Amino acid sequence: MKKFAVFGNPIAQSLSPTIHQMFANSSQEQISYQKREAPVNGFAEAVAAFFADPQAVGCNVTVPFKEQAYAMAVHRNPAATMAGAANTLMYNDDGELCAFNTDGIGLVADLHAAGINLAGAKVLILGAGGAARGVVHPLLDAGVGQLDILNRTVSKAAAIANKADNDKVRAVDTPQLLNHYDVVINSTSASLSGEVPPVPDRLLAGCELAYDMVYSKDGGATVFMQHAATLGATQQRDGLGMLVEQAAAAFAIWTGKQPDTEGVIDFLRGS
Ligand code: ATR
Repeated sequence: MKKFAVFGNPIAQSLSPTIHQMFANSSQEQISYQKREAPVNGFAEAVAAFFADPQAVGCNVTVPFKEQAYAMAVHRNPAATMAGAANTLMYNDDGELCAFNTDGIGLVADLHAAGINLAGAKVLILGAGGAARGVVHPLLDAGVGQLDILNRTVSKAAAIANKADNDKVRAVDTPQLLNHYDVVINSTSASLSGEVPPVPDRLLAGCELAYDMVYSKDGGATVFMQHAATLGATQQRDGLGMLVEQAAAAFAIWTGKQPDTEGVIDFLRGS
């Protein structure tokens, strides 16, 4: 039996055990996957206790421990380095802790599932917190042509652009916005409080996809999606697919198997 866990505080809300158990069932893997609420000041100890079990293979990490998970590791994938945060941990054969950030891979997979061709695409990210930092590298890897970041605190967008150190990534203020973006991604936490981050109406009206990284638990459209739909965006999508796809990327890192995601997304939509 391969053992996995997700660490967070709080953790009760996590869908990860359900998602990974479904992946395991469809991939002929015997697993156990538990939620573990680590004390705010006891994350490293909780992870060490988990990996002390010889059957432990890997763990996911969520708020507020992603930065600590990144800091603890000996090796980090480029997306984790760009984000300064990791959501997936495992030990390599040399006994070294490896950290990955699969959020951006998840986003890219879900954008592809929505039919978006990212090669050369013009993408606008709203917000410049951890969620935005985690997706910059994978979006560049997917071939986006322009990646603009708009945030109410401009200095935070500038810090991301500086770290990315790539001509395609810009921190923009409203006057510097392009006339058109193919995809507008809401990475802010505004939806959680029922708000829409400031963005010119014409950009949502003209985009191919308005994507909210947040997903609504009742399956309905988030306020950002509703706003974009009202303005005439071609397509709106929430972050449930990203959640499942980032989990699939972690599962593949741990087991070498790429699980089916479509059935899991359909199940979660229906539940
Ligand atoms: P996360 O790690 O989930 O990205 P975060 O680091 O707290 O969370 O970042 C939240 C982002 O949402 C920030 O970019 C924040 O803007 P500021 O950098 O100016 O604080 C943005 N945000 C949160 N609420 C918002 C709102 N009501 N309108 C616009 N932006 C908002």
